[in-house]
Amino acid sequence: MWWQSAVVYQIYPRSFADSDGDGVGDLGGIRSRLDYLAELGVDVLWLSPIYRSPQDDNGYDISDYRDIDPTFGTLEQFDALLADVHERGMKLVMDLVVNHTSDEHPWFVESRASRDNPRRDWYWWRDEPTNWRSFFSGPTWELDETTGQYYLHLFSRTQPDLNWENPEVRQAIYAMMRWWLDRGVDGFRMDVVNMLSKDPALPDAPGGDGSPYYISGPRIHEFMQEMHREVFDGRDGLMTVGEMPGVTLEDAQLFTDPARHELDMVFQFEHVQLDQDGSKWNHHPLRLRDLKRSFGRWQAGLAERGWNSLYWNNHDQPRIVSRFGDGSPEAAKMLGTVLHLHRGTPYVYQGEELGMTNFPFTSIDEFRDIESLNHYAEEGPSSLPALRDRSRDNARTPMQWDASPNAGFTTGTPWLAVNPNHTEINTEAQRADPGSVFHHYRRLIELRHTEPAVVHGSFSMLLEEDARVYAFTRAHGGTELLVLGNFSGEEVPIDLSGWEDAEVVIGSPGAALGPWEGRVYRRYWR
Ligand code: NOJ
Repeated sequence: MWWQSAVVYQIYPRSFADSDGDGVGDLGGIRSRLDYLAELGVDVLWLSPIYRSPQDDNGYDISDYRDIDPTFGTLEQFDALLADVHERGMKLVMDLVVNHTSDEHPWFVESRASRDNPRRDWYWWRDEPTNWRSFFSGPTWELDETTGQYYLHLFSRTQPDLNWENPEVRQAIYAMMRWWLDRGVDGFRMDVVNMLSKDPALPDAPGGDGSPYYISGPRIHEFMQEMHREVFDGRDGLMTVGEMPGVTLEDAQLFTDPARHELDMVFQFEHVQLDQDGSKWNHHPLRLRDLKRSFGRWQAGLAERGWNSLYWNNHDQPRIVSRFGDGSPEAAKMLGTVLHLHRGTPYVYQGEELGMTNFPFTSIDEFRDIESLNHYAEEGPSSLPALRDRSRDNARTPMQWDASPNAGFTTGTPWLAVNPNHTEINTEAQRADPGSVFHHYRRLIELRHTEPAVVHGSFSMLLEEDARVYAFTRAHGGTELLVLGNFSGEEVPIDLSGWEDAEVVIGSPGAALGPWEGRVYRRYWR
């Protein structure tokens, strides 16, 4: 499939580029930066939601699925953007948020109006709440005064969950998806799509963790197959990826087995939870062995059937270079090398290709994210250090285009502060520097496009117990690649027996790996 050799670039439109000076990124801004993305060499752009929305969760709360939010532009501008993307040989994938809508969506406005409204059953209403806790703090149930019942919201109270048991809901969503595909979009990234099917009993759960009743619920595979039939059958050249917190490998095999006609790939979360203790707000340093064990398992588990997506960053994760690395350009390059040489489709989150880092937050006033603000409201000032390290706003600071005061992101006041390190870390400086993280990512993407072993090669993990060096091989036909990454700030000697004459395709040769150094060798069998 074409997406097996593709690299996807995620744009968080609010923070990418602002064309009208209101301090919020927009479609005009994205359009003006397409040549940059083409230069990087990515194949697909995924846009975080740009639909009409009150922006309570930055667009993951949609009030009209068939319009563009005025913050970002108009449908006409969207069509022009899509045409420009296609003209450059790239594709465009939309975010699909259909586990919930905004509470301002007309469907919910009707649903809450009365108990006998025809859309009442489009959402989950109950006389009594259960003890589930929401992802964004507090309970998942909100009392609605108008009718005296509670509605379910796994996320914020402004994001009521749709009832996928109702076939009318499903058909309305499928019709909307077809409408976008008819407009020319090339697929969807599907928000928390493994939560669509819920156990309709919605029972109390130990500790308030309701996830057993909505993660890969009883009808999820049926829904995915139905969606495939209703929306994707008979259309070529598309790509689908399901975001799936808590998905197991066994389930991912089912979701991505091409013979089952569900999804092309899923985002799993195991590797970005390895440094967490129970909750995302408690963490310890990564143990490299855990990372190898996890990736090794997923690489093997999806080798025969299915396909992996590969990511370090997205708009919900703190910046990887500050998390698994030391914030340096060397660490950014090494992390890129290790990720991109795995088998699967790599995703680059805006700014990752520059080694953009976490933000030096010092006060709660600097945060905008609903999850972070709710957490602070519940936990108080003692939660500030955790927020500084883990808040989603770390990923959402404006893209760093140049060294000017607002990093070239806006001529106005940015909605979220620009990272002070933009004077050093920015596209202008890096495009001019052949040794930059940017050019390194460009080479990684090019390698995937030109070396079939990167796309198709079988995967073998090496040095499983080593606490500093990540190492693996990829083999395809007569070609073998050796990938090495030093996850430490110390120089580490390496054993290269058998690889003495191999060509170094990424990085530079040497008998040791320097601090945070990554390297790729290639050799041929006859
Ligand atoms: C996952 C999205 O990536 C996140 O940003 C959002 O807050 C939740 N789903 C709810 O839509």
